Amino acid sequence: MRIDKFLANMGVGTRTEVKQLLKKGRVTLNGTVEKSAKTNVNALEDYIAVDNNHIVYIDKLYLMLNKPQGYVCATEDNQHQTVIDLFKDYKDFHIFPVGRLDKDTEGLLLITNDGDFSHQLMSPNKHVSKTYEVLSEKSITNNDIELFKTGIELHDGLAKPATLVKAQEERKSFVTITEGRYHQVKRMFHAINNEVLALKRISIGDLQLDEQLAVGEYRHLKEQDFEQLGIK
Ligand code: URA
Repeated sequence: MRIDKFLANMGVGTRTEVKQLLKKGRVTLNGTVEKSAKTNVNALEDYIAVDNNHIVYIDKLYLMLNKPQGYVCATEDNQHQTVIDLFKDYKDFHIFPVGRLDKDTEGLLLITNDGDFSHQLMSPNKHVSKTYEVLSEKSITNNDIELFKTGIELHDGLAKPATLVKAQEERKSFVTITEGRYHQVKRMFHAINNEVLALKRISIGDLQLDEQLAVGEYRHLKEQDFEQLGIK
């Protein structure tokens, strides 16, 4: 693998940032300064350092994506682009999305190749909360808030109590659910005689979507992000 790809994959920076580090002579390969981004390395055997800090190869990946609309949450699809198509540099890492957002839903999506991590967040008995910003056809009433609190009847059973909060903007609200059923938020709104027009996930547990990420951008999770997810 090329050294710039290796460093970007390990979260040292974007491909452009990594090229700058190389140019400035801040990267060493087996003890010798390496300036060429094109040099191939053996990720397992070579000793690669940035500013004398050893960059250890890790095969587990944990990424936060600001998902754009128009991408399906799958690893392969015959008809649509998948969220994995956004991660060209990580083709060989067997990454997959943690849970699903609808094709037309935007926002916080975690991507990993660690099945245990995914399970910890998605298992129904872990009750990890997810908060969505909703633009709906009609404004939210106090009665809607009460109905969400009590639990909404869906065709596949009662949805667990959810928190619905009005946003300042007209027809905007925030809903927090602890389940992840198919089209859950859309179906809950439909059940109270309203419709979701736009949906964006803004948090999972205490982990918020990084506002620095433009739609379609991603970054590696940091230690503090794992704490906010309640994962040690
Ligand atoms: N609920 C929905 O209806 N759609 C999503 O994408 C996520 C939650």
